[in-house]
Amino acid sequence: SSEAAVSKPLHSLSFLFPRSLSPALPGPPALPLLGNMLDLTRDHLPLHLTALARRYGNIYRLYCGSTTMVILNSSEFIREALVKKWSDFAGRPSSYTGDKVSGGGQNISLGDYSEVWKAQRRVVHNALQRCTAESLHSVIETQALHLKQVLLDYREKAVDLSEDFTVAASNVITTLAFAKSYDKSSAELQKLHGCLNKIVSLWGSLWISVLDSFPLLRRLPNPHFSLLMKEVARRDEIIVGLLDEFKQRSGAKDGGTLTASLLQHSLESADKTAKPKTLLTDTQLHMTTIDLLIGGTETTAAWLCWTVAFLLHRPEVQTGVYEELCSVLKGQYPQYSDRHRLPYLCAVINEVLRLRPVAPLAVPHTAKRDSSIAGYFIPKNTVIIPNLFGAHHDPAVWSEPFTFRPERFLEGGGGSLRALMPFGGGARLCLGESVAKMELFLFTAYLLRDFQFLPEQPEELPDLRGVATVVLKAKPYRVIVRPRAH
Ligand code: HEM
Repeated sequence: SSEAAVSKPLHSLSFLFPRSLSPALPGPPALPLLGNMLDLTRDHLPLHLTALARRYGNIYRLYCGSTTMVILNSSEFIREALVKKWSDFAGRPSSYTGDKVSGGGQNISLGDYSEVWKAQRRVVHNALQRCTAESLHSVIETQALHLKQVLLDYREKAVDLSEDFTVAASNVITTLAFAKSYDKSSAELQKLHGCLNKIVSLWGSLWISVLDSFPLLRRLPNPHFSLLMKEVARRDEIIVGLLDEFKQRSGAKDGGTLTASLLQHSLESADKTAKPKTLLTDTQLHMTTIDLLIGGTETTAAWLCWTVAFLLHRPEVQTGVYEELCSVLKGQYPQYSDRHRLPYLCAVINEVLRLRPVAPLAVPHTAKRDSSIAGYFIPKNTVIIPNLFGAHHDPAVWSEPFTFRPERFLEGGGGSLRALMPFGGGARLCLGESVAKMELFLFTAYLLRDFQFLPEQPEELPDLRGVATVVLKAKPYRVIVRPRAH
């Protein structure tokens, strides 16, 4: 294939061009001590990194303290690193604060690549696949119908839907994990998400990340760090409570849930004859539960908010999807298998994933060994940032890259499905990709079948730039939800 033709010479360059012969990576001038820290603290970092790519090319470096970061801004280079050379770049940077929030790197998302990590990811992946096949469809249908009732109850009052989307996405994960779902008003739910959100936003803040680059600062009092540690303790208490309650309720025998399936593995770990590949310690089970709750809630909810925001700007697209749903489904609700008969809806889903990949910079990777990308020598331990947002706006691949144009996925020519990588790729591919894809499809199809979304005032449309932290979110906006007359 053409991919193999490109990859071979590139891959072999790391041997032909050792460090001394490799061209130096381009990048903006660096300040003494700070390096390019100022670039990394810019508002809307994905957009800023994408602008730098227009200047320095689709691969460039930034310095952060003593760390070199390589930013990849095209699907070709991201694919080369994450997919073709996956074993070279499957690492995660270990950091002081990352270790504090992940029980010393014992979760999947922040744990470094190792035999133990690989076994943990495989066990969780298999359990998720089983749950997805057995019950995900009906779990999402239940939540989509519940969401319908919540929206009907608003009676066309202008509302901010972000919390309702968070509850729906969270309920999918908690039902899969513990056979448990919550109402928006539930104190337990508020406590859980309040705490997880605080951890994500505190951990992403400059007050905390400076502690990774400048160890001396760890000796000074830091109220933000103290607060982070308090929230981590609160989080751990909540998760222990949820897991204990589950064990008591079901005697760990409720085979349909993810936790029951994972508990089987952790029980087997007491059995010394069990194969090491199937073991899961209590801490790993605990940290995995947090991975799924964090990874599976804000991402999906943020994507739903973006979809409604774009559709408010482009009512004719909303009408197009509605007409497709009516003509194909004849009034029925869709099954996930109907997606092949609903190409316009799928194109809209893909176009929102392209323009607003909700994990815009994925999660940082590291080089596990000396390697190369695009012919540049990349030494072991270099931090790699896959700028998915940048790749999705690459003018060499996408015509009018900043324009919302779902038709591009139907016509061919305006871009390519292969260059769409909202879930990353390779060994670190989003663990919840298949869960997320079914959610995006069914939630959107249900919502657009039953409702028309209208702006509060015709001239007051949502901001489309958004706010980028770990997750790329729309700024809060209000919308009128009008039931369709069937
Ligand atoms: C990792 C995207 C939903 C669980 C990731 C990564 C991306 C991503 C880009 C990082 C890949 C990398 O490091 O190269 C998304 C998007 C979602 C979504 C766009 C929805 C629209 C979910 C859901 C779950 C989930 C529903 C759980 C059920 C995870 C986990 C990881 C991850 C555990 C860490 C994987 C690892 O480090 O090996 N996701 N995600 N995500 N995601 Fe998702």
